[in-house]
Amino acid sequence: MTAFSHSALLKKICGSDAPPAPGEDLRLVLELCSDEGTERRFLAESLDESPRLCRRFLIAVNHLLPTTLRVSNGRSACETLERNAIQEALWIQAISDVMHAAHDRSRNRLWKHSLLTAMIVRELAAHLSIPPQGLLLPAAMAHDVGHLLIWGPATDSGIDWHAEHDRLVDQDQEPLPERNHCLIGAGLLQSWNAPQELIEAAAHHHHPQNAAEPVRTLIAVVSLADLIAEHVDAEQNPSELSLETSTAWTILNDSAGLSSSNQEQLLADMLIPASIQADRLAGLLS
Ligand SMILES: [Fe+2]
Ligand SMILES: [Fe+2]
Repeated sequence: MTAFSHSALLKKICGSDAPPAPGEDLRLVLELCSDEGTERRFLAESLDESPRLCRRFLIAVNHLLPTTLRVSNGRSACETLERNAIQEALWIQAISDVMHAAHDRSRNRLWKHSLLTAMIVRELAAHLSIPPQGLLLPAAMAHDVGHLLIWGPATDSGIDWHAEHDRLVDQDQEPLPERNHCLIGAGLLQSWNAPQELIEAAAHHHHPQNAAEPVRTLIAVVSLADLIAEHVDAEQNPSELSLETSTAWTILNDSAGLSSSNQEQLLADMLIPASIQADRLAGLLS
Protein backbone atom coordinates (compact mmCIF):
# COMPACT_ATOMS: atom_id res chain seq x y z
CA MET A 1 0.00 0.00 0.00
CA THR A 2 1.41 3.40 -0.89
CA ALA A 3 1.81 6.32 1.50
CA PHE A 4 -0.89 8.13 -0.44
CA SER A 5 -3.45 5.35 0.04
CA HIS A 6 -2.59 5.10 3.73
CA SER A 7 -3.27 8.78 4.23
CA ALA A 8 -6.42 8.53 2.10
CA LEU A 9 -7.62 5.66 4.30
CA LEU A 10 -7.05 7.68 7.48
CA LYS A 11 -8.86 10.64 5.91
CA LYS A 12 -11.81 8.45 4.99
CA ILE A 13 -12.06 7.12 8.56
CA CYS A 14 -11.37 10.30 10.50
CA GLY A 15 -12.97 12.87 8.17
CA SER A 16 -12.04 16.36 9.31
CA ASP A 17 -10.84 15.12 12.73
CA ALA A 18 -7.11 14.64 13.17
CA PRO A 19 -6.15 10.98 13.72
CA PRO A 20 -4.86 10.19 17.23
CA ALA A 21 -1.15 10.93 17.68
CA PRO A 22 1.45 11.17 20.45
CA GLY A 23 1.81 14.55 22.18
CA GLU A 24 3.76 17.32 20.49
CA ASP A 25 6.67 17.26 22.99
CA LEU A 26 7.11 13.53 22.53
CA ARG A 27 6.86 13.79 18.75
CA LEU A 28 9.56 16.46 18.73
CA VAL A 29 11.99 14.35 20.82
CA LEU A 30 11.26 11.29 18.66
CA GLU A 31 12.01 13.29 15.55
CA LEU A 32 15.28 14.55 17.02
CA CYS A 33 16.24 11.06 18.11
CA SER A 34 15.63 9.56 14.68
CA ASP A 35 18.02 12.12 13.14
CA GLU A 36 21.56 10.73 13.42
CA GLY A 37 22.87 14.28 13.20
CA THR A 38 21.19 15.45 16.41
CA GLU A 39 23.72 16.16 19.16
CA ARG A 40 23.12 14.17 22.35
CA ARG A 41 23.30 17.40 24.38
CA PHE A 42 20.48 18.91 22.34
CA LEU A 43 18.40 15.75 22.73
CA ALA A 44 18.86 15.86 26.53
CA GLU A 45 17.83 19.53 26.65
CA SER A 46 14.65 18.72 24.71
CA LEU A 47 13.84 15.90 27.14
CA ASP A 48 14.48 18.14 30.15
CA GLU A 49 11.95 20.66 28.85
CA SER A 50 9.13 18.28 29.73
CA PRO A 51 9.57 16.90 33.30
CA ARG A 52 6.71 14.39 32.86
CA LEU A 53 8.16 13.09 29.62
CA CYS A 54 11.63 12.86 31.17
CA ARG A 55 10.38 11.04 34.28
CA ARG A 56 8.52 8.43 32.25
CA PHE A 57 11.47 8.10 29.88
CA LEU A 58 13.71 7.21 32.83
CA ILE A 59 11.15 4.69 34.12
CA ALA A 60 11.10 2.97 30.73
CA VAL A 61 14.91 2.91 30.52
CA ASN A 62 15.51 1.68 34.06
CA HIS A 63 12.68 -0.84 34.33
CA LEU A 64 12.02 -2.17 30.85
CA LEU A 65 15.07 -2.17 28.65
CA PRO A 66 17.71 -4.89 28.70
CA THR A 67 20.47 -2.54 29.75
CA THR A 68 22.82 -2.90 32.68
CA LEU A 69 23.08 0.88 32.89
CA ARG A 70 20.97 2.68 35.47
CA VAL A 71 20.45 6.32 34.62
CA SER A 72 19.29 9.02 36.99
CA ASN A 73 18.53 11.89 34.63
CA GLY A 74 17.84 12.66 30.98
CA ARG A 75 21.30 14.06 30.36
CA SER A 76 23.19 10.95 31.54
CA ALA A 77 20.71 8.73 29.65
CA CYS A 78 21.30 10.63 26.42
CA GLU A 79 25.07 10.57 26.91
CA THR A 80 25.45 6.89 27.76
CA LEU A 81 22.69 4.94 26.02
CA GLU A 82 22.67 3.63 22.48
CA ARG A 83 20.37 5.67 20.25
CA ASN A 84 18.30 2.52 19.73
CA ALA A 85 17.60 2.24 23.47
CA ILE A 86 16.59 5.91 23.67
CA GLN A 87 14.22 5.40 20.74
CA GLU A 88 12.77 2.27 22.31
CA ALA A 89 12.02 4.06 25.62
CA LEU A 90 10.40 6.97 23.76
CA TRP A 91 8.26 4.79 21.50
CA ILE A 92 7.04 2.74 24.48
CA GLN A 93 5.67 5.99 25.89
CA ALA A 94 4.27 7.18 22.59
CA ILE A 95 2.27 4.03 21.89
CA SER A 96 1.07 3.74 25.47
CA ASP A 97 -0.04 7.38 25.58
CA VAL A 98 -2.13 7.12 22.44
CA MET A 99 -3.74 3.82 23.45
CA HIS A 100 -4.38 4.99 27.01
CA ALA A 101 -5.90 8.35 26.01
CA ALA A 102 -9.42 6.94 25.52
CA HIS A 103 -10.94 5.77 28.76
CA ASP A 104 -13.83 3.54 27.73
CA ARG A 105 -13.65 -0.07 28.85
CA SER A 106 -13.00 -1.45 25.40
CA ARG A 107 -10.01 0.86 24.78
CA ASN A 108 -8.66 0.23 28.27
CA ARG A 109 -8.64 -3.49 27.55
CA LEU A 110 -6.88 -2.84 24.27
CA TRP A 111 -4.18 -0.88 26.13
CA LYS A 112 -3.78 -3.67 28.69
CA HIS A 113 -3.59 -6.21 25.85
CA SER A 114 -0.78 -4.20 24.24
CA LEU A 115 1.15 -4.14 27.54
CA LEU A 116 0.68 -7.87 28.10
CA THR A 117 1.84 -8.61 24.56
CA ALA A 118 4.95 -6.48 25.15
CA MET A 119 5.80 -8.29 28.38
CA ILE A 120 5.27 -11.71 26.78
CA VAL A 121 7.59 -10.60 24.00
CA ARG A 122 10.22 -9.71 26.58
CA GLU A 123 9.96 -13.18 28.09
CA LEU A 124 9.92 -14.85 24.68
CA ALA A 125 13.12 -13.08 23.65
CA ALA A 126 14.87 -14.81 26.56
CA HIS A 127 13.85 -18.16 25.03
CA LEU A 128 15.56 -17.43 21.71
CA SER A 129 19.21 -18.22 21.06
CA ILE A 130 19.24 -15.45 18.42
CA PRO A 131 16.88 -12.71 19.67
CA PRO A 132 15.89 -10.26 16.92
CA GLN A 133 17.39 -6.77 16.81
CA GLY A 134 15.09 -3.76 16.73
CA LEU A 135 12.39 -2.02 18.72
CA LEU A 136 10.78 -5.19 20.02
CA LEU A 137 8.69 -3.84 22.91
CA PRO A 138 7.21 -0.87 20.99
CA ALA A 139 6.44 -3.17 18.04
CA ALA A 140 4.53 -5.48 20.39
CA MET A 141 2.66 -2.57 21.92
CA ALA A 142 1.76 -1.19 18.48
CA HIS A 143 0.45 -4.37 16.89
CA ASP A 144 -3.30 -3.72 17.41
CA VAL A 145 -3.22 0.09 17.41
CA GLY A 146 -5.52 0.13 14.36
CA HIS A 147 -8.42 -0.91 16.61
CA LEU A 148 -8.43 2.62 18.00
CA LEU A 149 -10.10 3.76 14.80
CA ILE A 150 -12.58 0.94 14.37
CA TRP A 151 -16.01 1.65 15.68
CA GLY A 152 -18.87 -0.66 15.00
CA PRO A 153 -21.69 -2.63 16.57
CA ALA A 154 -19.32 -4.31 19.04
CA THR A 155 -17.65 -1.16 20.32
CA ASP A 156 -20.83 0.95 20.19
CA SER A 157 -22.71 -1.47 22.39
CA GLY A 158 -19.86 -1.82 24.83
CA ILE A 159 -18.80 -5.30 23.75
CA ASP A 160 -15.07 -5.61 24.04
CA TRP A 161 -12.84 -5.14 21.04
CA HIS A 162 -11.97 -8.85 20.99
CA ALA A 163 -15.38 -9.77 19.64
CA GLU A 164 -14.91 -7.24 16.85
CA HIS A 165 -11.37 -8.47 16.28
CA ASP A 166 -12.45 -12.09 15.87
CA ARG A 167 -15.31 -11.17 13.59
CA LEU A 168 -13.09 -9.08 11.35
CA VAL A 169 -9.99 -11.21 11.29
CA ASP A 170 -11.03 -14.80 11.77
CA GLN A 171 -14.35 -14.93 9.98
CA ASP A 172 -13.94 -12.32 7.30
CA GLN A 173 -10.61 -12.78 5.56
CA GLU A 174 -10.83 -9.55 3.59
CA PRO A 175 -12.61 -6.83 5.53
CA LEU A 176 -13.02 -3.46 3.90
CA PRO A 177 -9.90 -1.32 4.35
CA GLU A 178 -11.76 0.97 6.77
CA ARG A 179 -12.62 -2.10 8.91
CA ASN A 180 -9.15 -3.69 8.68
CA HIS A 181 -7.21 -2.94 11.86
CA CYS A 182 -3.92 -4.12 10.29
CA LEU A 183 -4.09 -1.61 7.43
CA ILE A 184 -5.36 1.17 9.66
CA GLY A 185 -2.69 0.55 12.28
CA ALA A 186 0.07 0.56 9.67
CA GLY A 187 -1.31 3.81 8.24
CA LEU A 188 -1.54 5.44 11.65
CA LEU A 189 2.03 4.50 12.53
CA GLN A 190 3.24 5.69 9.15
CA SER A 191 1.59 9.06 9.79
CA TRP A 192 3.70 9.31 12.99
CA ASN A 193 6.90 8.44 11.08
CA ALA A 194 7.25 5.34 13.23
CA PRO A 195 10.17 2.95 12.59
CA GLN A 196 9.57 0.21 10.04
CA GLU A 197 9.29 -2.65 12.55
CA LEU A 198 6.34 -0.94 14.26
CA ILE A 199 4.55 -0.44 10.95
CA GLU A 200 5.26 -4.05 9.92
CA ALA A 201 4.03 -5.33 13.32
CA ALA A 202 0.68 -3.59 12.82
CA ALA A 203 0.43 -4.72 9.19
CA HIS A 204 1.54 -8.36 9.54
CA HIS A 205 1.07 -9.61 13.11
CA HIS A 206 -1.63 -12.02 11.92
CA HIS A 207 0.50 -13.22 8.98
CA PRO A 208 4.18 -12.85 9.97
CA GLN A 209 5.32 -14.69 6.85
CA ASN A 210 4.32 -11.57 4.87
CA ALA A 211 6.61 -9.24 6.85
CA ALA A 212 9.71 -7.84 5.16
CA GLU A 213 12.64 -10.24 5.49
CA PRO A 214 14.86 -8.04 7.73
CA VAL A 215 12.14 -7.78 10.41
CA ARG A 216 10.34 -11.09 9.88
CA THR A 217 11.75 -12.78 12.98
CA LEU A 218 10.85 -9.78 15.12
CA ILE A 219 7.29 -9.79 13.75
CA ALA A 220 7.07 -13.54 14.41
CA VAL A 221 7.96 -12.90 18.09
CA VAL A 222 5.17 -10.29 18.25
CA SER A 223 2.78 -12.65 16.48
CA LEU A 224 3.45 -15.56 18.87
CA ALA A 225 3.14 -13.24 21.89
CA ASP A 226 -0.13 -11.91 20.48
CA LEU A 227 -1.58 -15.43 20.16
CA ILE A 228 -0.76 -16.04 23.84
CA ALA A 229 -2.06 -12.63 24.98
CA GLU A 230 -5.29 -12.97 22.96
CA HIS A 231 -5.87 -16.36 24.58
CA VAL A 232 -5.22 -14.99 28.08
CA ASP A 233 -7.41 -11.94 27.41
CA ALA A 234 -10.41 -13.78 25.95
CA GLU A 235 -13.29 -13.30 28.37
CA GLN A 236 -15.59 -15.92 26.92
CA ASN A 237 -15.00 -19.27 25.29
CA PRO A 238 -11.30 -18.99 24.56
CA SER A 239 -10.47 -21.21 21.62
CA GLU A 240 -7.86 -23.93 21.98
CA LEU A 241 -4.34 -22.55 21.90
CA SER A 242 -2.08 -24.30 19.40
CA LEU A 243 1.15 -22.37 19.19
CA GLU A 244 3.20 -25.20 17.73
CA THR A 245 1.17 -25.23 14.51
CA SER A 246 1.36 -21.45 14.08
CA THR A 247 3.46 -19.82 11.37
CA ALA A 248 5.17 -17.70 14.02
CA TRP A 249 6.37 -20.81 15.90
CA THR A 250 7.82 -22.25 12.67
CA ILE A 251 9.62 -19.00 11.82
CA LEU A 252 11.12 -18.75 15.31
CA ASN A 253 12.13 -22.41 15.34
CA ASP A 254 13.83 -22.06 11.96
CA SER A 255 15.47 -18.66 12.32
CA ALA A 256 15.84 -17.73 15.98
CA GLY A 257 16.50 -20.96 17.87
CA LEU A 258 13.39 -21.24 20.04
CA SER A 259 14.56 -23.10 23.14
CA SER A 260 11.18 -24.50 24.25
CA SER A 261 10.28 -27.81 22.71
CA ASN A 262 6.53 -27.45 23.28
CA GLN A 263 3.96 -24.81 24.15
CA GLU A 264 3.22 -26.16 27.63
CA GLN A 265 6.82 -25.67 28.68
CA LEU A 266 6.90 -22.20 27.13
CA LEU A 267 3.69 -21.10 28.84
CA ALA A 268 4.78 -22.56 32.19
CA ASP A 269 8.02 -20.57 31.97
CA MET A 270 6.63 -17.21 30.98
CA LEU A 271 2.95 -16.61 31.69
CA ILE A 272 3.15 -15.66 35.36
CA PRO A 273 6.19 -13.36 35.10
CA ALA A 274 4.75 -11.68 31.98
CA SER A 275 1.36 -11.08 33.65
CA ILE A 276 2.97 -9.60 36.76
CA GLN A 277 5.21 -7.37 34.66
CA ALA A 278 2.26 -6.19 32.54
CA ASP A 279 0.37 -5.08 35.67
CA ARG A 280 3.47 -3.31 36.92
CA LEU A 281 3.98 -1.65 33.54
CA ALA A 282 0.37 -0.38 33.56
CA GLY A 283 1.09 1.32 36.88
CA LEU A 284 4.36 2.81 35.66
CA LEU A 285 2.93 4.21 32.44
CA SER A 286 -0.40 5.55 33.81
FE1 LIG B 1 -4.73 -7.99 15.61
FE1 LIG C 1 -3.64 -8.55 19.54
